[in-house]
Amino acid sequence: PISRIPMTLTINATEHALELDPRTTLLDALRNHLGLTGSKKGCDHGQCGACTVLVNGRRINSCLSLAAQHEGDEITTIEGLADGDQLHPVQAAFVAHDGFQCGYCTPGQICSAVGMLEEIRAGWPSHASTDVAARPDALSDAEIRERMSGNICRCAAYPNIVAAIRDAAKEV
Ligand code: FES
Repeated sequence: PISRIPMTLTINATEHALELDPRTTLLDALRNHLGLTGSKKGCDHGQCGACTVLVNGRRINSCLSLAAQHEGDEITTIEGLADGDQLHPVQAAFVAHDGFQCGYCTPGQICSAVGMLEEIRAGWPSHASTDVAARPDALSDAEIRERMSGNICRCAAYPNIVAAIRDAAKEV
């Protein structure tokens, strides 16, 4: 029999008490044990970014992280970004720019973009950095592509994804 361990995860500002196999990834905990299926499983190997969520405001691949490591963390998923009926500015920009085709990668793209804009505000450099630290409104397309390179879109909706993020950067 598989032994389970108790844990409490704080997701989208709500605490959830769970008993899980300690090998359960954060992604599987979200999708299979909490019904939060917005985060997607593309590769389960840290290669596609479809599972991206925010942990204490920083983006991670939830398929590469064990749920048990995240007791006490603030986890935000795509389900927690909107404020009631008010979309998060990054969500609204993806709608306005049609930043998706099949939509499978979209929750990860959006969570990743939210984390990325925060990284810029915090002054984190990227390989394509110009002088945009603390100036997300001056982001070049090259820098957006570099910073979003962990999120794959098999439909190749990249031009619209980049346009959405360029716009959202002015507002967030
Ligand atoms: Fe996690 Fe692909 S499912 S990176």
